[in-house]
Amino acid sequence: MADRLPNLLAIQGMTRAQVDSLLDRAARLEAGAESPRSLQGKVVANLFFEDSTRTRSSFEIAAKRLGAEVLNWTTRGSSVSKGETLLDTVRNIDAMGPHAIVMRHSSSGAAALAARHARAVMINAGDGTHEHPSQALLDAFTLKLHLGSLEGKRILIVGDILHSRVARSNLRCLQLLGAKVALCGPPTLVPPEFAADGAELSFDLDRALEGADAVMMLRVQLERQTDALFPTAREYARRWGLTQARADQLPPGVKVLHPGPMNRNVEIATQVADGPRSLIMEQVRHGVAVRMAVLEACA
Ligand code: NCD
Repeated sequence: MADRLPNLLAIQGMTRAQVDSLLDRAARLEAGAESPRSLQGKVVANLFFEDSTRTRSSFEIAAKRLGAEVLNWTTRGSSVSKGETLLDTVRNIDAMGPHAIVMRHSSSGAAALAARHARAVMINAGDGTHEHPSQALLDAFTLKLHLGSLEGKRILIVGDILHSRVARSNLRCLQLLGAKVALCGPPTLVPPEFAADGAELSFDLDRALEGADAVMMLRVQLERQTDALFPTAREYARRWGLTQARADQLPPGVKVLHPGPMNRNVEIATQVADGPRSLIMEQVRHGVAVRMAVLEACA
């Protein structure tokens, strides 16, 4: 088992040793050498206040592989429609005695707040624009399989950085593992404060792609845009999309990631997403083992 964790709320605050330990454990679990039933007889409650395809299913499959039973709660059909608060929902589910709560919410800090009011282990499955730690762990796992050590590697993250919890968690996780992180996108979507965290910032994708060891494309988060932060989808694709023409300029070993869901032909061309450079389905596959390691460590 990986080193024990009280919960998983953010990559920020984690140590390199904790991340390494989770990734090593995920590798052993994925190799299938053992099939631990460490959550046998326990319940994992998925509390998703926001929609999800990959993260929720992945946590569910991970929990079941460890022998847990899974409660899948969503806002639809719940008392949220009657005005019940986040904390009341969490306290009530927690009172039923689940071992762990996996929570996604549109407010930054929601999982940390919930953790202070629940006995269950709390796992953040994405809180607003703050963090998405299990996504960063599975991205690091996938990158390490292809690049070996991430020490000194330059990883380029492109797109809607401003609204992206994936970018924030990845920046922290990749830096913890020794990588150099470059962020690129429209000036309105690349917050200057990330320079203080040691990220290289740029607005010109063609230049930013030079010297990248891997490229992570992000979804344009239309649901979190309150102002017109970029012109049109077509213009976005032309300036910041990973088109086939751009991908053709990259050295053969440079792989492409995307956390999903994709806006095909906006931030990433369909041929690139489904082409030989794409690690997108691999990311999804590794997510199960990584989440098993997380659930086990928080047991
Ligand atoms: C991301 C999320 O919800 O934060 N998706 C995911 O979990 N794989 C990214 C996104 O919504 O763009």
